[in-house]
Amino acid sequence: MDKPIINVLGGSSRKPPPVWLMRQAGRYLPEYRALRERAGGFLDLVYNPELAAEVTLQPIRRFGFDAAILFSDVLVVPHALGQSVTFAAGEGPLLEPISDRTGFERLTSDIDHGILAPVYETVRRVRTALPPAVALLGFCGAPWTVATYMVAGRGTPDQAPARLFAYRDAAAFDVLMDVLVEASASYLVRQLRSGADAVQIFDTWAGALPPAEFARWCIAPTKRIVTMVRSQVPGAKIIGFPRGAGSQLPRYVVETGVDAAGLDWMIDKDFARERVQSTVPVQGNLDPLVLLAGGVALDRAVDAVMEAFAERPFIFNLGHGILPETPIAHVEQMLKRVRGS
Ligand code: CP3
Repeated sequence: MDKPIINVLGGSSRKPPPVWLMRQAGRYLPEYRALRERAGGFLDLVYNPELAAEVTLQPIRRFGFDAAILFSDVLVVPHALGQSVTFAAGEGPLLEPISDRTGFERLTSDIDHGILAPVYETVRRVRTALPPAVALLGFCGAPWTVATYMVAGRGTPDQAPARLFAYRDAAAFDVLMDVLVEASASYLVRQLRSGADAVQIFDTWAGALPPAEFARWCIAPTKRIVTMVRSQVPGAKIIGFPRGAGSQLPRYVVETGVDAAGLDWMIDKDFARERVQSTVPVQGNLDPLVLLAGGVALDRAVDAVMEAFAERPFIFNLGHGILPETPIAHVEQMLKRVRGS
């Protein structure tokens, strides 16, 4: 059966456009918070196929989105490479920081698919449970974004530790990127073989890189992942989301070979339509804060996104993840406006 999102990724337009939201399985949903409490730690939930499948399906049942996104996290890759990763309540992720070359020499260069086996099982369960028209998206973090957490040991406002590491010892940083390229590509291949219909590469911190470093640490590794995945899964559909890429986005799209580009909420819509959507389908780009705000501002912002992009291949989404404080009623208002229902 036809999956609207997969058709759009293949270059056709749909009216109204298909829609899903980044981080749609998460804390803004009361049913997620209830299940999260039962599971214990965040990683216990991620590595429990029964509960992770349930969380993946929650937003589909409630809102009828056109895609489900696998419930997992970008940081399971460093975890499966042997780095310690924990999620402390209210603090976000904590990793054992890697401050120099010896730090990641301790990591294995082969991803442990045994640790990730429950994630692949989640993919299989969700694909079986989903209505056929709903796409299942797998994902990974881009090597640069994952490296920012691996080096700093936590989220940072400006990704300074990873940027410093890369400037001080580019050769060592290249080794880390190589490990992440291989690991991420084989992680995506397993997700696709387990039943994911397409995958997204999240480069949340791409915008912290100046143009030369953007080419080296964002574009080049992403391009290698795209090539490796397609060599093992011919025709694999891949969405790239280099948040904050701005004027570098047209180059990112052409050089990486992704099938579609995720647009953040900051990008100029005319620029994105003329310089990005002219080449590939786009996805985005409602400001998550206007979804939180609601009201007339939300209607206007939805209309502006639709006017900019809905004439050509387009997937409606946010410009970054949904915020935990977002009222359910605002998501419903947004969906009505997009679908004209
Ligand atoms: O609904 C979905 O999108 C599915 C699952 C998903 C999660 N994280 C679950 C999650 C996805 C696609 C991600 C991606 C992710 N994780 C990224 C890239 C995209 C982005 O949002 O920037 C990054 C950088 C991470 C790393 C991460 N995981 C951080 C920084 C945090 C803490 C901050 C936060 O948003 O909570 C997490 C935890 C996390 N990942 C939660 C969820 C639902 C919250 C954990 C909880 O329930 O306590």
